[in-house]
Amino acid sequence: MRKILVTGALGQIGSELVFKLREVYGKENVVASGRRIKEGHEELIESGPFEIVNIQEEKQITDVVKKYNINTIINLAALLSAVGEKMPVRCWDVNMNGLYNILEVGRKEGCMIYNPSSIAAFGPSTPPDNTPQDTIQRPTTMYGVTKVAGELLCDYYHTKFGVDTRGVRFPGLISYQTLPGGGTTDYAVHIYYDALKNGEYTSFIGKGTQMDMMYMPDALDAIIDLMEADSDKLIHRNAFNVSAMSFAPEDLEASIKKFIPDFKLHYDVDPERQAIADTWPNSLDDSAAREEWGWDPKYDLDAMTKDMLDKLKVKLDL
Ligand code: SER
Repeated sequence: MRKILVTGALGQIGSELVFKLREVYGKENVVASGRRIKEGHEELIESGPFEIVNIQEEKQITDVVKKYNINTIINLAALLSAVGEKMPVRCWDVNMNGLYNILEVGRKEGCMIYNPSSIAAFGPSTPPDNTPQDTIQRPTTMYGVTKVAGELLCDYYHTKFGVDTRGVRFPGLISYQTLPGGGTTDYAVHIYYDALKNGEYTSFIGKGTQMDMMYMPDALDAIIDLMEADSDKLIHRNAFNVSAMSFAPEDLEASIKKFIPDFKLHYDVDPERQAIADTWPNSLDDSAAREEWGWDPKYDLDAMTKDMLDKLKVKLDL
């Protein structure tokens, strides 16, 4: 029986993943954790076990792993790209030293470790179109540096110590429950809120900037399906390219207009986040994930737009 610890459980992914995991594995078998309790997450915190865990303290991770007989850790505690550029030292500390502690606990206590990587693990010298699974990775952000190093460290713990490490390179994730915490792709979330509330949105990412994206239900499947995949079939176990769609702001505008015809998109480009976006791929080749563990996303751009707008209308009481 799987006994799962989720770190960073109150973030954009965790706040939805925990509910889904509790449905699949039973609520007592999924321990949610965060560095502190955050307002607005009462339902999650009360829906099963919750513990305060700072991944920069190995003992705090070990204590919870022992208390609940945890055998799987999904490590979602991390700083994202834009915030990481503002606080590079802290980004390294949380993303790398935190991951190192998680891997050490995995090695000592015999846990599977799921650690997501990102499209940020690529850089300006990476082939940008149909970016191959195995290619040049020379990112120019601290977040990207921690993601490449994290992929390698997870590989190392697997080959050297036999820890069952797994992960995908997530693209921009779009969801309506919890806002992302300071990424470059966040415009693709904010746009839906403003479309419904104001009928217009000002994008900090410029026209023509294409990036890979995914709707949260597919991202949750990417975590659970890879976690449950047959270990023997995984060649690229720590860093699978996964994508569901690739679009630029004007493509998102066109999709929203199908549902809100008067919607208007303006641009006020943020040079820092634009510079990051310009170093990331336009579209990923995710055939390795499809072949090795059956990756098959369900939502394309219009299906996502329809669902986001329907769900947000209810959430925002519009
Ligand atoms: N969504 C993330 C970011 O923009 C990419 O991993 O930082």
